[in-house]
Amino acid sequence: MTYSNYLSILKKVVFTICMLAGFLQLKAQTTIPIETNNNVIVLQTDKNNLLRTVYVGKPLLNSNEYANTISVTHLDDDNAGIYNAAYTPSGTWNLSEPAISVKHADGNPSLELKYVSHTQEKEDANTTITRIVMKDNVYPFQVTLIYKAWKKENVIEQWTEIQHTEKKPVVLEKYASANLYFSNSDFYLTTYHNMWAKEMQAAEQKLERGTRSIDTKLGTRAMLLQSPDFILSFDKPASENEGHVMIGQLAWPGNFKMDFEVDAYQNLRFIAGINPFASEYALQPNQVFKTPSLIYATSFNGTGDASRSLHAWARKYRVLDGQGQRLTLLNNWEATYFDFDETKLSSLYKDAKNLGVDMFLLDDGWFGNKYPRNGDNAGLGDWQENVKKLPHGLGYLVQEAKKEGVKFGIWIEPEMVNPKSELYEKHLDWVIRQPERPEVYYRNQLVLDLTNPEVQDFVFGIVDNLFTKNPELAFIKWDCNAVIYNAYSAYLNKKGLPQTHLYVDYVKGLFKVLERIRAKYPKVPMMLCSGGGGRGDYEMLKYFTEFWPSDDTEPVERIFMQWDYSNFFPSIVMDNHVTDWGKQPLKFRVDVASMGKLGFDIVASKLSENDMKFAKEAVSNYHSFKDIVWHGDLYRLVNPHTNPISSLLYVNENKSRAIVFNYLVNYRQRLTETEKPVKLNGLDPAKKYSVKEINLYPGAQSPINSSTIYSGDFLMKVGVNPSVNLYRTSVVLEVNEIK
Ligand code: DGJ
Repeated sequence: MTYSNYLSILKKVVFTICMLAGFLQLKAQTTIPIETNNNVIVLQTDKNNLLRTVYVGKPLLNSNEYANTISVTHLDDDNAGIYNAAYTPSGTWNLSEPAISVKHADGNPSLELKYVSHTQEKEDANTTITRIVMKDNVYPFQVTLIYKAWKKENVIEQWTEIQHTEKKPVVLEKYASANLYFSNSDFYLTTYHNMWAKEMQAAEQKLERGTRSIDTKLGTRAMLLQSPDFILSFDKPASENEGHVMIGQLAWPGNFKMDFEVDAYQNLRFIAGINPFASEYALQPNQVFKTPSLIYATSFNGTGDASRSLHAWARKYRVLDGQGQRLTLLNNWEATYFDFDETKLSSLYKDAKNLGVDMFLLDDGWFGNKYPRNGDNAGLGDWQENVKKLPHGLGYLVQEAKKEGVKFGIWIEPEMVNPKSELYEKHLDWVIRQPERPEVYYRNQLVLDLTNPEVQDFVFGIVDNLFTKNPELAFIKWDCNAVIYNAYSAYLNKKGLPQTHLYVDYVKGLFKVLERIRAKYPKVPMMLCSGGGGRGDYEMLKYFTEFWPSDDTEPVERIFMQWDYSNFFPSIVMDNHVTDWGKQPLKFRVDVASMGKLGFDIVASKLSENDMKFAKEAVSNYHSFKDIVWHGDLYRLVNPHTNPISSLLYVNENKSRAIVFNYLVNYRQRLTETEKPVKLNGLDPAKKYSVKEINLYPGAQSPINSSTIYSGDFLMKVGVNPSVNLYRTSVVLEVNEIK
């Protein structure tokens, strides 16, 4: 062999070895794209088998190219470890905010999670589940990251499952549901801050370096002070019809925490999950701890598109009977409060019938005998009909309502107790309270300890008894008016379990009860109420058909609140009642309440003749278009936060019919006429339409000419003027296709 031959063979061998090494390295790197139609999250292992988020954005045309995204990202940091870890552990070399932090059976706090395997399975043509298993090399400890992606709706639901086979329990100190990473130039975050009757007050801010945390520690409800709903907007502030946004929620009715951290690279780390506050969880060997879900919809066309996607997903895949019907109703709460008897109620069934609604809902105050529920300070927990108010019992009421042609629904607050009750006297050990400290009350009541299976049986039994004795009961309003003070469980103590399980096991206990209820009564509609917007979340809405957004039913306030809630929830799940709050005329109140599931909470028999005439016609109109409000697409047209009016349009699937609600929201400018037309986004530009005003008050003339025929193109580009002014403060338009 000549020297040059030898050299050439050597070169070929070296080249082949290099190729092979490169190939092996590439092979060793695993790339996992989690895709919907408009969005992709790309996860990839690095040379140490750590899993990182390497790209979040629009899907690439060629999916082979996802593997290359790592080559343009350099994110190791000796100061903080891996910023873009797909699930950041703690106690080893990672110093940035962890997604998970544990104390092993031997007391050691270190954790390193390495990629082991993954699967991607199609549940159907639209839905894919990705499961990624990660393990620690030193301890038999495993985390599975799960991503469920709905292609068409651009929705991802993300959670984790944690387990181990160590010899004794491992204490989970932090156990997030999701750990996301974004590399945009700027980040804007909208969060919602509340207190009773002021729920869903939006606040948008640019995220600067450091961490912004949103959390709750209320125990029984998520949304009273801060909400688990958020809008993230990338590069610029969120807007309705353009821009890259993510609209999401941590679906958990208990304590939650969301950390938004702009890191040293000016990228955004987002970690969301159960609030670790006072919640260290001792996980037994072989048990699986499933975290709640972070659910989000993404759009590159603004919040309008993202929320329509979330609504479509919620109706089709999430909410109980999301594609079904709902019952319009008359509720007696604000009509009578606690002061009613059978005679008063029977006149209310007549009112319900007269208005044309489907059901009468009997609210708080129907129970308790030793301690009658005549105010909010007694009787809660004693679920027997009060014999003075209702001598013939509930069954009689159901039948009396039936005679009037209306269904009958009932209020309960099964998770709570008044200290002035037989339940409290008999079962003090069922009550969450510090045995050595004075009790502290929220609305004169305390919370029952749902970690205790006996309490779970009791709560299930309340519902079960109601339905067993009254099979024709059509509806349940499930209220929850207290938070957990003095967090302490006698049951956990008796079982030798840590008190730090209370917040988590309370919610798990609640889910167990709801599972049992739904196994036995799968369909009966139930409203989730929480003395205001406390529990509207997508985990609870698996069991409930709807929720009560706020006790604040003042209609101008409500326009803002409903606008903001509508980012997250479709109208079919939001219960809007016409009450006497505020000074707006009945028409205004009914029109506002019609943008959801309509109910009344007034003494209808006291309405003036014209008001009654109007209400009856408006209810009948509502029945004619409710299907569009409940199942159609919502286009938010004019934002009340920045304009003197607000407009919203609901359109059916084939865009042949739409309902447009318009309201005056700024009374200070003495608006004499809507200055600008309202562009009717959401129609079909190729169709022809007429525009007619409905819900006119008796005697009122409409300036809208219903015989003009417009193209969809015209209505979408030029618009229509609803002529909202000081004398026409609310205007409802019906847009119909003309063939
Ligand atoms: C709070 C609810 O929000 C009200 O609608 C009513 O049901 C009361 N509780 C009853 O106590």
